[in-house]
Amino acid sequence: MFAVPENTVALPSSAVAVHPVRVALQVALDRDRWKHLLRYDPEERFSTLIEKTDDQEIWLMSWLPGQTATLHDHAQTTGAFTVVSGVLTEVVTTRIQVVHQLVEGQSRVWGPGYVHQVRNDGTDPAISIHVYRHGTRAMNAYRYDPVTGPVR
Ligand SMILES: [Fe+2]
Repeated sequence: MFAVPENTVALPSSAVAVHPVRVALQVALDRDRWKHLLRYDPEERFSTLIEKTDDQEIWLMSWLPGQTATLHDHAQTTGAFTVVSGVLTEVVTTRIQVVHQLVEGQSRVWGPGYVHQVRNDGTDPAISIHVYRHGTRAMNAYRYDPVTGPVR
């Protein structure tokens, strides 16, 4: 047995030293931080800002069955999202399209050039937490060409 001296483990000095998936998971578990903001909008996917700092933005989104974010990238941002409840379908698009089914606690990350669509194909509402870094929540729309891949 041995003692670990204090200050042996370096703690992150800024928020961006923590992986965005970890941030999203921590916020997802901390429902008191965002439950008062949660809405379900029958017209479109609901989204609202939970927190904005110089380093990152954290957003809450809700998805009723059938609601979707059309094919897009996130411009220069990097980040991650985590499913809090329900099931979300993510379609990652390069020249081909790869489908991921995401359930509670599962996350995906993105960076510049990452093109995807997210939607709720399930029968229950879904909730997700999204962390954006290196810029605000910008999106560029795409369409999918089966020959060339995503086209802006
Ligand atoms: Fe996205």
